[in-house]
Amino acid sequence: MRASTVHRVRIPSLPGAMPLLGHIPQLRRQPSEFVRALRTRGDVVRFRLGPRWAYAVNSPALIRQMLVADAEQAASLRRRGSVGLVLHPSRIRQYAATMCEIAEARVDSWRHGAQILLDQELFSLTLTTVTQVLFRGRAGARLAEDVRGTLPVLLEGLGRRALTPVGALDRLPMPVNLRFRRAQRTLQEAVHRAIAEYRADGLEHGDLLSMLLTARDADSGAGLSDEQVHDELVTMLVAGTETTASALSWACYLLSRDGDAQRRFQRELDEALGRRDVHQVSHETLRELAFQQRVIAETLRLYPSTWMLARRPNSPVELGGYRIPAGSTVLFSVYALQRDPELFASPERFDPDRWLPKSSPGIPRDAYIPFDSGVRGCAGEQFARAEMAAFLSVIFSRCSVRPAPGGSPPVTRLMSMSSALPLIVRRRTPRERRC
Ligand code: HEM
Repeated sequence: MRASTVHRVRIPSLPGAMPLLGHIPQLRRQPSEFVRALRTRGDVVRFRLGPRWAYAVNSPALIRQMLVADAEQAASLRRRGSVGLVLHPSRIRQYAATMCEIAEARVDSWRHGAQILLDQELFSLTLTTVTQVLFRGRAGARLAEDVRGTLPVLLEGLGRRALTPVGALDRLPMPVNLRFRRAQRTLQEAVHRAIAEYRADGLEHGDLLSMLLTARDADSGAGLSDEQVHDELVTMLVAGTETTASALSWACYLLSRDGDAQRRFQRELDEALGRRDVHQVSHETLRELAFQQRVIAETLRLYPSTWMLARRPNSPVELGGYRIPAGSTVLFSVYALQRDPELFASPERFDPDRWLPKSSPGIPRDAYIPFDSGVRGCAGEQFARAEMAAFLSVIFSRCSVRPAPGGSPPVTRLMSMSSALPLIVRRRTPRERRC
C-alpha cells in the first residue's frame, strides 16, 4: 500500500460540514447521492464523520491497492474455518434443491393479480434459507423465529453505526437506539439458549451450529467458546440475508420495468425446464442459464448489496500520493465505482447484454467488485449465487411481474441497497410456459 513518492499535498475536503456532526446528516439522509458527490472531488477525498476526518477512496486502481494489501488479512483468514466449510462450493448442490422448494412453496401462495411487497417476501425467503443451513435442530427452529423478529432492527442499526461510527450518537436514549439494544439482547439470549441446548443433547444436526460446536483449533486442539460461536452465527445472519434479498428485489424491480428482458428470461427458462419444475433440474442447469447470469451480473453492478465498504488501516497508508493516518475510517463506494461513466458505457442503463463475452472484455477487472476482492471477499458468494439463480428461476417461470400503480420509488437503506417494492404478480398459464 506504500507508494514510493509521497507528495505532501493536502487531501481535498468535501464542503458543507455542520458543526459537531460534520457530514453525518447528509450521509444518513441520502447515502447514494452523498457518495456520488464524493466521487466528483478526486481520487481521495476527506469528509467529516462528526469531529473526525474520514477518507473516501474513489479511483479503481487505488481501491484495488487498498483491498489487496488490506492490513487485516490474517485476522479475516482465521475466521473462515467452519463458515468456510459450511459455505464450501461442494456443499452448495446439497442446499440448492431446498432453496428451490422453499421458493416454490412461497410463490405458489401468491394470488394471480395480487400486489406483493416483494422486498419483504424475499427477505423472509432468504432468512428461511439461511436459518435452515445454520440450525436444523429443534432448538434451531425456535432460534430461527427469534431471528426473524429481531434481525431487521439489528441490520438497520448496524448500517447506521457502520457508516457513521460516532459512539456518542448511538448511546443517546432515543427510541431507535433503545430498539437496537433490545434486539441485540434478544438475539444474543436466543443464540446462547440454542448453544446450551445443542451442547446438552450432544447430537450432530448437520448444520453450522453443530459444526462450530465440534470445531477444534488445528494447533491447540481447543474448541470455540460460546461467545465465539455466537459471533460466527450472527456474522452469517447479518452477512447472508438482507444482501441476497436486496439483490433479488432489485433484479425483480429491473425486470418488472423491462418487458423485453423479462420475456427473454422467461423464454430461456421455458426452454431449459420443459415440463419440469425448477426443483427437478440440477443446480448446474440453473447456473448455466446465460441470460439469467447476465441479469444477475447487471443487477449487482447497478445495485451492489454491500454498496459501501470500510477499512481501518492499523498503520499509515499512502495512496495516490496522499497519506492517510493509521486508525482512520477509509470508505469506498462500490455503488459509485460501478456506475462510473469512464468505466461503463451508459452506466445508468440496465443492460444485461453488456456482460456478453464479446462486450465484457472492455470492462476493467477492478471496476466490478460486488462480492469484494482480496482476502476479505464474500465467503458466501457461491451460496448467494445459487440462491439468486433458484429464486429468480422459480419466480419468473411461474409468474410475470409489473410495477404496482402509484408505488413509491425504491429507497436506499444504509446497510444494504434494498428497495421497498410493491409489484403486481400475474401467474403464467401452463400454455404460456410451453409457447
Ligand atoms: C448478493 C449477495 C451478497 C453480496 C453482494 C455479498 C457481498 C459481500 C461483500 C462485499 C463482503 C465483504 C465485506 C467487506 O469487505 O467488508 C461480504 C462478506 C461476507 N459475506 Fe457476503 N454477500 C452476499 C451474500 C452472502 C451470503 C448469502 C452469505 C452466507 C450465507 C454471505 C456471507 C458472508 C460472510 C461470512 C462474509 C465475511 C464477513 C466478515 O468477515 O465479517 N454473504 N459479502
